[in-house]
Amino acid sequence: MEPLKPPVRPVPRLVEVGPRDGLQNEKILISLEAKVAFIDALSETGLKEIEAGSFVNPKSVPQMANSEVVFARIKRKPGVLYSALVPNEMGLDLALRCKIDKVSVFTAASETFNQKNIKASIKESIERFRPVVLRSRQAKLPVRGYVSTAFWCPFEGQVKPEKVVEVVKMLSGIGVGEFSIGDTIGKASPDEVRKLLFLLCKAVPKESIFLHFHNTFGRAVANAIVAWKTFGITGFDASTGGVGGCPYAPGATGNVATESLVSAFKAAGSDPGIDEAKLKAAAVKLFSFLGRAPGTRPPK
Ligand code: HMG
Ligand code: MG
Repeated sequence: MEPLKPPVRPVPRLVEVGPRDGLQNEKILISLEAKVAFIDALSETGLKEIEAGSFVNPKSVPQMANSEVVFARIKRKPGVLYSALVPNEMGLDLALRCKIDKVSVFTAASETFNQKNIKASIKESIERFRPVVLRSRQAKLPVRGYVSTAFWCPFEGQVKPEKVVEVVKMLSGIGVGEFSIGDTIGKASPDEVRKLLFLLCKAVPKESIFLHFHNTFGRAVANAIVAWKTFGITGFDASTGGVGGCPYAPGATGNVATESLVSAFKAAGSDPGIDEAKLKAAAVKLFSFLGRAPGTRPPK
């Protein structure tokens, strides 16, 4: 009998968010050298996109305060895109000066989280982004829009999929071309992912959708595989070493580890083209800077 051939599935595109989402939540101040060394190591792994920092109020997120210097010091590898979070026009001015390759604005599907995170209602945040998106596009930069709390909000509980679709449409309406759908507190289940994607894939092209799973309850890999196999979603955010969390999302742990997603996709028959050994080496280097064992959380 012929052995079963695995089905041909589209190759996943992984966005590394460790240097931003991963490091923004660390309690100890991470040195500039450590950040630059981490990003440079990631650049050698085969990753095509790295979120290297954010241009936010340094009082809100002190760990990202030196993003300008980080962008000046990293070795940019040709073919790798270096992006950053930009909350407003002041952030965009800094980001453009640093010659970032892609701008990421960020809002949420729940009002309470958005107020705590960026001090704006969802509607106000969209208006705040309007000139940011316009100027980014004039500068020929692609724009990603994050929608946090797309499944669960740490303050309001479960979030309706229809609300997420509404926010994605608002972002699309101001010219955002890519959407990162955030399970900010890592609580989504595969069924909840299915329900949302069923609606979202009718609203925007599936190629424009990225999923941003935190892994608090250990469901992130299962969620990603469901999105990929059932809906053909190929965009996934991940963080080498599984570091991360949002300072405004109490209890949330890190993003799904990049090395876990690479390994899961390879086992399922599709190689994202990222060197696992080099990823592990980057994680080991990072954790040596953080002063704790790989895979462990920062002390409370
Ligand atoms: P605000 O207080 O309304 O801003 O904050 P403001 O315009 O009133 O300014 C207040 C101060 O911030 C002023 O300084 C400004 O100069 C300064 P002061 O006069 O007090 O000295 N400021 C800035 N400085 C540097 N860069 C800027 C900037 N803007 C203002 N761009 C604001 C509004 C959005 C700026 C603030 O709330 C903020 O920076 N929030 C950032 C929150 C954040 O970074 N959260 C984590 C990332 S989101 C996340 O992790 C979720 C995600 O991973 C997806 C998921 O998991 O769901 C993306
Ligand atoms: Mg996140």
